[in-house]
Amino acid sequence: VKAITGPTLAQLRVNGEKITMLTCYDASFAALMDRCGVEVLLIGDSLGMVCNGHSSTLPVTVEEVAYHTAAVARGSKSALVLADMPFGSYATPQAAFDNAVKLMRAGAHMVKLEGGAWLAETVRFLTERSVPVCAHLGLTPQSVHQLGGYKVQGKTLESADLLKADALALQAAGATLLVLEAIPSALGKETTDLLAIPTIGIGAGPDCSGQVLVMHDLLGVFPGRKARFVKNFMDGQTSIDAAISAYVSAVKDGSFPALEHCF
Ligand code: KIV
Ligand code: NA
Repeated sequence: VKAITGPTLAQLRVNGEKITMLTCYDASFAALMDRCGVEVLLIGDSLGMVCNGHSSTLPVTVEEVAYHTAAVARGSKSALVLADMPFGSYATPQAAFDNAVKLMRAGAHMVKLEGGAWLAETVRFLTERSVPVCAHLGLTPQSVHQLGGYKVQGKTLESADLLKADALALQAAGATLLVLEAIPSALGKETTDLLAIPTIGIGAGPDCSGQVLVMHDLLGVFPGRKARFVKNFMDGQTSIDAAISAYVSAVKDGSFPALEHCF
């Protein structure tokens, strides 16, 4: 099996083929998603909520993400393994590097961190030291107490301009990928058009280079409040395999996200 790498994802964007990403937290689901052709498996800090029952991602530790990353890395063969850097683990470039090394040693191929231009120095520090980085803008759940809740971002002209400037700064600093969460579809498209690197949307419209969902949302097993951008792909399916394959097909053919999932 051919390994999916950063350059593979860049090539998919060039080819106009949508990129599929899902969150994944254990070896069995990693093997299944890998078989279904999911290109990126994200060990999201959402694990604090969907696996551990916390009400936010803030309590998650580097050790917890590393534990789940090792399991996903053992279970998958070709997917790119992307690990979230949890809250408080990248306050300085050196701290970010030390914690990223723990996640890379556990099996991550790339790490993800939340924030704008203030992180450019950190992204450069990591990428110069061979740690590939995925940035994350828009609704950044680790900032929930600053944002005042899980709200759509980038709705004003000023905040949209700021997001685009942040995206350019992170790309210039060496980011390989950019996750865009809960922003108007128009801003998802503008940001994607502005960048050369692939964007991965979750509630960011159909024009991003790819899409991501939390697996528990895709399978309809998360008991919490369902965000607008969530679609239960188990509807009409008789197996988890079929649901994951339906997600991959829907992202690839552009039928997901539909208007009802967008802002
Ligand atoms: O933690 C997570 O699951 C994420 C995705 C929603 C992008 O960061
Ligand atoms: Na996350």
